[in-house]
Amino acid sequence: MESRNARAEATIALLRWYESVGVDECLSALPIDRTRAIPPEDPNPPPAPPRVAAASRPDTRPDPPPGSATPPPAARPRPTGEAVKAACDLARETRTVAELRAALDAFDGCALKRTATNTVFYDGTPEAARVMLVGEAPGAEEDRRGLPFVGPSGMLLDRMLASIGLDRAGVVISNTVFWRPPGNRSPNTTEIATCLPFLERLIELVAPEILVALGGPAAKTLLARSEGITRLRGHWSTYATAGLSHPVAATALYHPAYLLRSPGAKREAWRDLLAIRRRLNEPKEEPRP
Ligand code: URA
Repeated sequence: MESRNARAEATIALLRWYESVGVDECLSALPIDRTRAIPPEDPNPPPAPPRVAAASRPDTRPDPPPGSATPPPAARPRPTGEAVKAACDLARETRTVAELRAALDAFDGCALKRTATNTVFYDGTPEAARVMLVGEAPGAEEDRRGLPFVGPSGMLLDRMLASIGLDRAGVVISNTVFWRPPGNRSPNTTEIATCLPFLERLIELVAPEILVALGGPAAKTLLARSEGITRLRGHWSTYATAGLSHPVAATALYHPAYLLRSPGAKREAWRDLLAIRRRLNEPKEEPRP
């Protein structure tokens, strides 16, 4: 009895230690022997896909050199260039958001998919959205429910939208990656690059009047700018890709999670929200005869 209690205490202590060092996911019931011999990398990887967006694409990291410590074949991700090309090919072929969703479901080129519970693609109403908002990455609640911004920061986002007369029926909300990074770490450039073709195609299919990046990482990905969010918020630029019939007005807002931590920044966020409302209320230019 005593030894059972001691074992339980030791297990709890071990779990606490895992938690304290950030290990909060169980990826597999079986250990992976990463010291096993690994077959060499494909010596002729396909070329990187052409850039289709005016907005910059994040850097893609080079594939690891042959012989470096990569996972064994069953768990090995595709080389980055190949995965991005597959994502571009799949996304480009789609003509509707439903087709794009099916293509994303068929895509296995992003390593995040293996550790996530659900794909978190978008929420809202693509056919009616005048505004599209893009955050960084799904968190734990989003992963559980398969919808973006449904945790604490999502509740604040809903209130921010309501303050300018919007709700999820009038917008589309998505993220730079569609699967939760383990332990809520930031997505890396490879993960963002493999999701970006799907995000770009979603923006093309929604064709919103206004594109809003939520927070610095999303602004960097979408707006092709290197400045931080404090400089980018409140400014307007345009977002254009080959598949959009005209450029979309684009801006950035503080991320709602940041506003929860720094309520003093809400004053600026409110100003930025009002600027979005003003743009939406501006009379539209008449098409020229
Ligand atoms: N933060 C994000 O950037 N996206 C979400 O979906 C939730 C929280």
